[in-house]
Amino acid sequence: MSTDLALGLKCRLCGKLYPKEALNFCTDDFGPLEVVYDYEAVGATLNRASIAARPRNMWRYRELLPIDGEPTVGLHVGGTPLVKADRLAKALGVAELYVKNDAVNHPTLSFKDRVVAVALSKAVEFGFKTVGCASTGNLAGSVAANAAAAGLEAYVLIPDGLEQGKILGATIYGAKVIAIHGNYDHVNRLCSQIAFRYGWGFVNVNLRPFYAEGSKTMGFEIAEDLGWRAPDHVVVPMAGGSLVGKLYKSFKEFERLGLIGPVSTKMFGAQATGCNPITHAAKSDAFKVKPIRNPITIAKSLAIGDPADGYFASKLLRETGGWGEDVTDDEIVEGMKLLAETEGIFTETAGGVTVAVTRKLIEQGKIDRDGSTVICITGNGLKTQEALQGKIAAPVVIKPTLEEFEALIGAEAGELVGV
Ligand SMILES: Cc1ncc(COP(=O)(O)O)c(C=O)c1O
Repeated sequence: MSTDLALGLKCRLCGKLYPKEALNFCTDDFGPLEVVYDYEAVGATLNRASIAARPRNMWRYRELLPIDGEPTVGLHVGGTPLVKADRLAKALGVAELYVKNDAVNHPTLSFKDRVVAVALSKAVEFGFKTVGCASTGNLAGSVAANAAAAGLEAYVLIPDGLEQGKILGATIYGAKVIAIHGNYDHVNRLCSQIAFRYGWGFVNVNLRPFYAEGSKTMGFEIAEDLGWRAPDHVVVPMAGGSLVGKLYKSFKEFERLGLIGPVSTKMFGAQATGCNPITHAAKSDAFKVKPIRNPITIAKSLAIGDPADGYFASKLLRETGGWGEDVTDDEIVEGMKLLAETEGIFTETAGGVTVAVTRKLIEQGKIDRDGSTVICITGNGLKTQEALQGKIAAPVVIKPTLEEFEALIGAEAGELVGV
């Protein structure tokens, strides 16, 4: 089936229209470009029944993704669980809480598989043979894995000093992984130069308008799994600031198509205090993003000092009645532990940020305790184990005898038998 329903690209600042091409900025004012759709044509085939009849992966909403033909990359991405998190709800003192768990996304355990599936399917349509990305870690693994499966050559650029799980999780797939002396913003600048010089498809540079649309599928799944409604509050980790905007766009698109009722969702953005340009801007009234030159936080996946979508993200948080908040490294670890101990979900540091910020927002009264809240968990804790070094009790080592075990648990020999 051809789903050529994306009409083209549009500048978010001046509204100038562009054809579907590998370009991410307006040549008049450098504003970011966004995909526009023919919603009437989308509505002709996309409805609750047609969605329900399709396989449970991100492509069940394919009319709202900017792919002209059938997707060719990331065919099994998405369809992750929306967990009703009653034990975490109790710990936080709220009535209705859900965890959207992209820590178990396929194939690389983060929400980035969604954006990469769209970007690389589009890269194939455009005829790129070489692809790449600038990454804070998760994108590196996802581009490397999905490019390998699609037979594309991949260049993955990362700041030096990333976690081992992120580095190994990219190099294993045979991608050329290049660590740059410097932070993410240095990496990103270099990637822009490389993409345009060599004519390669960099997913979050010249393919960014298409790439970013993939994040919407996380929101579509949330709304569908809530029984076709948007939640009252969503808490989202932010780095470049794209995901939070696309989640909101997903609810508005469903509303526009009549798939859900009126949307009054408040969007909340979460960052680490050591790299908080968007939450800082959201707390000001001008939404002016002041770049952080030297991000320092254990939440390395969120460490983007000069976020591409920072202005739009901070404005959105306030316009929807939400807020932006940030937390310290200690609070991040507490958030990771709380989610693990209450819901059995091991998130990476970005999820620790999200849980800890949620707790803070509830305490501040910004999240209403009686409303429905969805926490977005976007990556897996196995990739950021360094952050927990020395923060988690080591296992106790004993000899393989019942005496040692019972001495350890403080029980008299045999006292617990039969209980
Ligand atoms: C685990 C995780 N969560 C959230 C984000 C934030 O995404 P965005 O850059 O769209 O704000 C990232 C970005 O790298 C990430 O790796």
